[in-house]
Amino acid sequence: MPEVAVLTRRSENESARNEAGFVLIIDDEAAIRESLQTLLEMEGYNVTTAANGEEGLAKLGDRPFELVLLDLALPDRNGIDLLAAIREQDRHLSVIMITAYGTVENAVRAMQSGAANFIQKPWDNEKLLADVRAAISRRRTEEENVQLKRALKQRYSFENIVGKSDAMLKIFDLVSQVATSRSTILLQGESGTGKELIAKAIHLHSDRRERPFVPVNTGSMPADLLESTLFGHVKGAFTSAIASKKGLFEVADRGTLFLDEIGNMSMDTQAKILRVLQDRKFMHLGGVQELQVDVRIIAATNVDLRQLVREGKFREDLFYRLNVISIDLPSLRQRKEDILLLVNFFLEKYSAENQRPARIATTEALRALMSYSWPGNVRELENVIERAVVLSSGSEIGVDLLPDNIAGRGAAFPLFEQRSDATLFDIMEECERHIIVDMLEKCNWNQTEAAERFKVPLSTLNQKIKRLNIEIKKKSRE
Ligand SMILES: Nc1ncnc2c1ncn2[C@@H]1O[C@H](COP(=O)(O)OP(=O)(O)OP(=O)(O)O)[C@@H](O)[C@H]1O
Ligand SMILES: [Mg+2]
Repeated sequence: MPEVAVLTRRSENESARNEAGFVLIIDDEAAIRESLQTLLEMEGYNVTTAANGEEGLAKLGDRPFELVLLDLALPDRNGIDLLAAIREQDRHLSVIMITAYGTVENAVRAMQSGAANFIQKPWDNEKLLADVRAAISRRRTEEENVQLKRALKQRYSFENIVGKSDAMLKIFDLVSQVATSRSTILLQGESGTGKELIAKAIHLHSDRRERPFVPVNTGSMPADLLESTLFGHVKGAFTSAIASKKGLFEVADRGTLFLDEIGNMSMDTQAKILRVLQDRKFMHLGGVQELQVDVRIIAATNVDLRQLVREGKFREDLFYRLNVISIDLPSLRQRKEDILLLVNFFLEKYSAENQRPARIATTEALRALMSYSWPGNVRELENVIERAVVLSSGSEIGVDLLPDNIAGRGAAFPLFEQRSDATLFDIMEECERHIIVDMLEKCNWNQTEAAERFKVPLSTLNQKIKRLNIEIKKKSRE
């Protein structure tokens, strides 16, 4: 029993130690190292020491250090340089500088180079311990933030497909589930909702990922060309067939064939595709030999295929063959909670692509982006953000960088024009908002002046500003 008790106490101590943190002391004076080590170990810290800069740098990788106590005046290296080298290894590592020559200048330089704090010899033990605790706690908070951001990114992004709405999270799950099968998949959704992106993600998550993903826009080609593209042809099959050519069904063998805009195919081509779907066999145009392929088909359409079937424009049997697993991509208006995430994703993407520092959208701009109806869905949003980033010169994306119809300029009743579900109340609120923002802008955001010009009490105006969530931009010039 006593042994168990001892063990327990030891492990408690161990965890208290880990709780308190890992500290590396770099100082050339043995007496200083020892007294700091004793002081910190008595507080439960796990301490490692180094007598010079090189040894310190070498030991950095040994443990998950959270804090370095660094002598500013080392024999082998300038303390500020060493500080930079340490932070290069780990940006979030806290460093407290120690020096006997604690001039203000040294302190300022150390802090500018990223030191968390500055301690002068001889130090006050209580003060030193408080600084150490604060530095470690700051480091932990930063680390948690980084981890949280990373987790959020992973959670809400799947092969660069961004979304946190329930609808998109369900689609991510579905994609992982169906990817490994060979079942045909039908992707339906408005233009720009990400059908091709999902098709690629399915391919990348399948065991076909090493083989080609072959997209064909079946909607944009005349029937003859489409058929020779898909099935290939033998030499002399038609006038211009001067040599034989492989079809995309062969190119995509053991890979994935993405039949995009399938709703526009001729009835004839539909019949031929149906055959391949049934037994994975086909012939080159003009050929006599049957070819067997192992192809996974993903089809996409932005029209309602059922409706086309009812109208007699799409073969019912082909529809059922394609519709083994169907994934409906929601329009952006149906998942407004993804807009913010997408805006930030594209801001980051296009700032980086254009080698510009990260841009952020102002609250006003975000509000405009959130209330727009996005008929062109994610593609339209992506284009709007790319344009804004390219046009921007400062670090902010304001409404001025958004197209007129999105910024609410031009159309008198944008909500009314863009959103069929907007109520009279929504539209009136929007108008009121525009009128008040307009007036505030005219009055240089001086609320008193705006209230006077509106001939209403200031309190009434302020209530409206609050209710309509109007952000007061500039300081009024009183
Ligand atoms: N959820 C998303 N996250 C990030 N980017 C997206 C997302 N959805 C779409 N996109 C981007 O939007 C653009 C349009 O997507 P995609 O081409 O896949 O749409 P689509 O449904 O095939 O459109 P269309 O019917 O017009 O062909 C692409 O640049 C794509 O990368
Ligand atoms: Mg597409």
